[in-house]
Amino acid sequence: MFNSKIASFAKCVPENIVTNNDLEKLVDTSDEWIFSRTGIKERRISVSENTSEICAGAAKKAIDAAKLMPEEVELIITATISGDYYIPSVSCIVQKIIGAKNAMAFDINAACSGFIFALSAADKFIKTGTFKNALVIGGEVLSKFVDWDDRGTCVLFGDGAGACVIKRGNGRGIIAEDLHSDGEKGESLMSSYIPVDNPFCESTEETFKFIKMGGREIFNFATRKVPASINEVIKKSALSFDDIKYIVPHQANSRIVEIIAKKLKLPMNKFFMNMDKYGNTSGASIPIALSEMSEKGLIKENDKIIVTGFGGGLTWGSALIEL
Ligand code: UT7
Repeated sequence: MFNSKIASFAKCVPENIVTNNDLEKLVDTSDEWIFSRTGIKERRISVSENTSEICAGAAKKAIDAAKLMPEEVELIITATISGDYYIPSVSCIVQKIIGAKNAMAFDINAACSGFIFALSAADKFIKTGTFKNALVIGGEVLSKFVDWDDRGTCVLFGDGAGACVIKRGNGRGIIAEDLHSDGEKGESLMSSYIPVDNPFCESTEETFKFIKMGGREIFNFATRKVPASINEVIKKSALSFDDIKYIVPHQANSRIVEIIAKKLKLPMNKFFMNMDKYGNTSGASIPIALSEMSEKGLIKENDKIIVTGFGGGLTWGSALIEL
């Protein structure tokens, strides 16, 4: 087995800012309702760039910061549920844009837990010696799948991408992880049903494109599962919360984070939040947060952090990482 080390974080978000006040003009809502119920003030909404383009933007910055040439990149994994196409994958398009012509590239669909699942897979490719480095991306243009007439969902989501490079090195990478799925509850968060459709069937099924969510159900699921998952990685690592610099949760709702903190009896300043600026960017929210924390000097080499996510699938999980 080899050791792994996270070498860089980067992000790329669309320039267009849509505030809560802007949304008041689209649906029956208010800045007061959105901010008090979610902690979101504004989000980035793409007006031209598709998912692969913003993922490539984050990827380029991450490989530069890790001092890798594009052709040295050996693996690209993108966590996304809003790719440009079914085929090719976002990762393959990113490979083409950045010129990583020697990489193996594929996507992971695990919704808002996707970045953690992707990082977990990459860490294993490095630790088993299959590859010496990997580019892990979380990127979404969710605005394509949002029903802009549905106030229950359109105020929540945003577009953006974050990336990191993980390399063979003298660190520990992921020290402990706790990853789960529950397909039984998949119907509480869905988008884009594609029915069987060919000349040999009489398809009567209705198709739908936009995100449908049982908000309360997801809220209750997250506040139940995430604290247990965080406790599990602490237990597996034999570390204590005092050893952890930050917990970086999926940025869905500040009230969810407050309940998690309360259940774990931890102060809110142990948790990083930036959903006020970006909304819920699904698989991109954790790498965007890590990139911003790195830019602000909040995290540095050798720090231990916990990333934790939950979302469609249903999926959830946590990873305790040494930077
Ligand atoms: O990324 C992972 C997946 N997603 C999540 O993590 C989302 C998890 N869930 C949540 O964050 C919250 O459940 C929401 C923010 C989605 C909703 O908050 P809530 O406190 O659970 O509100 P609610 O759905 O129970 O709705 C309360 C009221 C309803 O009105 P009535 O029936 O009480 O008259 C809604 O119609 O708020 C109404 N409402 C709104 N009002 C103004 C729903 N959306 C809006 C809105 N503006 N945008």
